[in-house]
Amino acid sequence: VSSKVTLKVNGQQHAVSVDTRTTLLDLLREQLHLTGTKKGCDQGQCGACTVIADGRRINSCLSLAVMHENSEITTIEGLGTPDKMHPMQAAFVKHDGYQCGYCTPGQICSAVSVLDEIRKGIPSHVTGDLTARPLLTEKEIRERMSGNICRCGAYSNIVDAIVEVSG
Ligand code: FES
Repeated sequence: VSSKVTLKVNGQQHAVSVDTRTTLLDLLREQLHLTGTKKGCDQGQCGACTVIADGRRINSCLSLAVMHENSEITTIEGLGTPDKMHPMQAAFVKHDGYQCGYCTPGQICSAVSVLDEIRKGIPSHVTGDLTARPLLTEKEIRERMSGNICRCGAYSNIVDAIVEVSG
């Protein structure tokens, strides 16, 4: 069964026909050709497919495209360009926050969302309410980023990059 879905991706409006079983990840990659978002496990365990949907990070492999009628989606392509990088992208480059790079788009989308969560005062289940202080400890960053797996183990550099932007 196919269905029409209208959504905004990186500021651009799209009206596409999708099979109702199509995930947001497959819509982005295969129909909109936004291949920056990666497919790792395709079952919600690795975080490679993380995108920002209506201001919250989600695993796009676990979300059906038809659930995103009128949503605003931001992918890694929408955060910045090589000439005009988002501060988080620039920090990942500066701190070598990657090795093979496959998990990087998801890591960066997740990290951008982590800082938004802090600004919105969404409490950490590790330390309680963080609204009183803007800085995140390394432990808090590691906890909030725990859904994004890096098989190369570049975690300490990833954390360094996020610390720089969050500070
Ligand atoms: Fe979605 Fe792994 S591809 S969590």
